[in-house]
Amino acid sequence: MQISLDKHLNDSKIDQDLRYLILKIASTAKYVHHAMQTGDLGLAGTSNMYGEAQLALDVLANQIFIRELEDCHYVSCLASEEMEDICVVPQEKQGKYAVAFDPLDGSSLVNANFSIGSIFGIYKADSFIGLKGDDQVASLAVVYGPRVTLVYTAKKGVHEFILNAVGEFILSNENIKIEKSAKHFAPGNLRAIASDKKYAKLVDYWMNGEYTLRYSGGMVPDINHILMKEQGVFTYPGYKNMPSGKLRLLYECAPMALLVEQAGGAASNGKKRILDIKVEKLDQRTPIYIGSSDEVKMACKMMA
Ligand code: F6P
Repeated sequence: MQISLDKHLNDSKIDQDLRYLILKIASTAKYVHHAMQTGDLGLAGTSNMYGEAQLALDVLANQIFIRELEDCHYVSCLASEEMEDICVVPQEKQGKYAVAFDPLDGSSLVNANFSIGSIFGIYKADSFIGLKGDDQVASLAVVYGPRVTLVYTAKKGVHEFILNAVGEFILSNENIKIEKSAKHFAPGNLRAIASDKKYAKLVDYWMNGEYTLRYSGGMVPDINHILMKEQGVFTYPGYKNMPSGKLRLLYECAPMALLVEQAGGAASNGKKRILDIKVEKLDQRTPIYIGSSDEVKMACKMMA
């Protein structure tokens, strides 16, 4: 029997509003996928708060998610990687969940026809500052690849769904588990090697150990690879120009860390769990070492 996302959420007995919110995100991702397949791949002519040029698709995906989530009555406020400030939902439509999201992570890969994704961290709150990744009640990632898939956790394991031909997300992998050791590695920000010999040694360690390289340049597909292959390690350390690296705690690292930890893996900034780091500002960045727990431990030790 095929199990839909709705049935899975219902059977998992998670809060009803959270269930509807996750379903809303899943159905909105289908519009975003359509926009990606048919939309303009050029620049929007604007830049985000990090000074990065926004693609028309980034702006459109953000607008689609904001429009749908602002109106759904389950959300108190929204923070997006593409917006400088949070969007507080008008009183009459307020719900109890704060949603932080990256509407289209890795969007610059679209014109090369690589896989990309959307990431969501969900908190029972009405703001984000002062929260930790551990405060998330759920997180999910949508992967737009040869297939559209969705992985979610509501802190009762990690489950994958595939979008079928009639637009339903159908359970494809339940209770995904990540092994402690890995044979795949995904080393982000290799340019850090120029100023950090420790990172060079870590990459050497993987290469001398005959690990297999699996790196796409998109955090969502790269970490999804670890979930699907049930092992692997993804790293994105800081370097001299960007001591905390590039990836954002609230929009990228915390939601992906919750997925990976719920699958039995680990996620660290080199010193502490990603999920223990307090959000001090919306655009906070953090180095990240994530995946199979023994590999994360080894990476943190070698980078110390
Ligand atoms: O944050 C966006 C992102 O595209 C991630 O998905 C990816 O892991 C990273 O940037 C790649 O960074 P770089 O462009 O430094 O290789």
